[in-house]
Amino acid sequence: SGFVSLLRNGLLKLGVPGKLLDDLFSGTNDKVLKIPQASGSLAAVGAQAFFIPLYDLFLTYGGIFRLVFGPKSFLIVSDPAIAKHILRDNSKSYSKGILAEILEFVMGTGLIPADGDIWLARRRTVVPALHQKYVAAMIHLFCNATNRLCQKLDSAASNGEDVEMESIFSRLTLDIIGKAVFNYEFDSLTNDTGIVEAVYTVLREAEMRSMSPIPTWEIPIWKDISPRQRKVSIALKLINDNLDSLIAICKKMVDQEELQFHEEYMNEQDPSILHFLLASGDDVSSKQLRDDLMTMLIAGHETSAAVLTWTFYLLSKEPAVMSKLQEEVDSVLGDRFPTMEDMKKLKYTSRVISESLRLYPQPPVLIRRSIKDDVLGGYPIKRGEDIFISVWNLHRSPNHWAEPESFNPERWPLDGPNPNEINQNFSYLPFGGGPRKCIGDMFASFEAIVAVAMLVRQFDFHMAPGAPPVEMTTGATIHTTEGLKMTVTRRTRASIIPDLGVRIAQVIGDPEVKPSL
Ligand code: HEM
Repeated sequence: SGFVSLLRNGLLKLGVPGKLLDDLFSGTNDKVLKIPQASGSLAAVGAQAFFIPLYDLFLTYGGIFRLVFGPKSFLIVSDPAIAKHILRDNSKSYSKGILAEILEFVMGTGLIPADGDIWLARRRTVVPALHQKYVAAMIHLFCNATNRLCQKLDSAASNGEDVEMESIFSRLTLDIIGKAVFNYEFDSLTNDTGIVEAVYTVLREAEMRSMSPIPTWEIPIWKDISPRQRKVSIALKLINDNLDSLIAICKKMVDQEELQFHEEYMNEQDPSILHFLLASGDDVSSKQLRDDLMTMLIAGHETSAAVLTWTFYLLSKEPAVMSKLQEEVDSVLGDRFPTMEDMKKLKYTSRVISESLRLYPQPPVLIRRSIKDDVLGGYPIKRGEDIFISVWNLHRSPNHWAEPESFNPERWPLDGPNPNEINQNFSYLPFGGGPRKCIGDMFASFEAIVAVAMLVRQFDFHMAPGAPPVEMTTGATIHTTEGLKMTVTRRTRASIIPDLGVRIAQVIGDPEVKPSL
């Protein structure tokens, strides 16, 4: 048919050898070109995290297959070359699709859901805000926030109370991102009401929507009578009112300061992204500014919390990794707060986090929609296809990883490069890849390094006796089903003998300092 010859010519132009094409297109070519198809039922997926059954289907059907749910169908991609094509080489042919529809109510046209010209303009405006000097300032913020958490854990250790670490990490990263994005002190480690509750209401709603097969929230009357929807509207209004006042306060500061705007512009009192954006000329009344701030709040909160949760879970199962990690932290940091220089030196810490992100990628799938016809893995596809790139499958693919299921930070030698999507050729996508790659990758990596280093220096962590089994469920990120309940104990740090002299001197010199050995 005309289509087949068109396709053949297209492939020929792409450099596919004519001989191969002749073989391919002779006889029953339909079979050759049809994407393998798996049919599913929503019931089969059930309560299980939806990306889990996709793994077995990947082993059966390969790096690209079609999953059919009644009238709906999705292409599931688990092949690094196809992922690279969609995310990087031909990224212009893809939009955020369903994701943009689901998140519209909270992110509007913020950077994550936005497409086309809006995305490009905002990417160019927002990325410069996360410059080197900003990230360096954030290290102090990570230290202070983690230090507050350490104090909390210290009293739990004294009282012999077990701690649910997942919610603790969620609060830690909320405190950090609030300050980092718009200079707001959620103080959620100690305070649980009002705005903090509103943020969680909105997050839970976003997760529910991404899981729900029927968009009840779009039904006009339902919106007004459903108690849940009413609660969401009230929460959104509270957050937006707070945002408005934060923007107003920040604008005043910007107007009063003498500082000239330049490339590494930063106000020392308020290094926030909001401050940078207003100083760079963003309009205070702009809805886009609010959308981008909300987007960064959510993007930088849940993901970072999930990374810490799964890292501590994995560490609790591998005491040898934990010991090696503690050894590195003791020798690099001693008793100091981590600094920017330490980020390079804490190599094993950084590998532990990379390996945690391999096993538990956040989010576990990337969502796209084709906006032009294309060819994926040799199969022609039409515009309008909804695509899930399963980062979970890529990261656990037996084709690319030795012992894919095992938590083994040693798979990346310390004298080699930090693993990323480029040096792993899209088999590893902790922060995505191509033009839509995460803008907070360095921020997030340093945040995790600081938090992990400071916590394991001071405490040992074990699964609490009688803790519920740790199983997975999904929203935007991978959550545990029933929390991560741990017993936290102060470390007896026999290993830092060289430090002892200093510690004793401190204790003698300052009666307030109590020995922690
Ligand atoms: C995009 C992961 C932290 C802001 C992404 C993407 C991934 C990702 C995989 C690509 C999404 C896609 O292609 O569909 C993570 C992880 C984090 C993290 C694992 C923590 C460990 C942060 C932080 C911020 C942030 C702290 C904000 C400062 C963004 C934004 C985008 C994005 C704005 C959209 C970029 C664009 O489309 O141009 N992130 N992220 N992320 N992330 Fe992150």
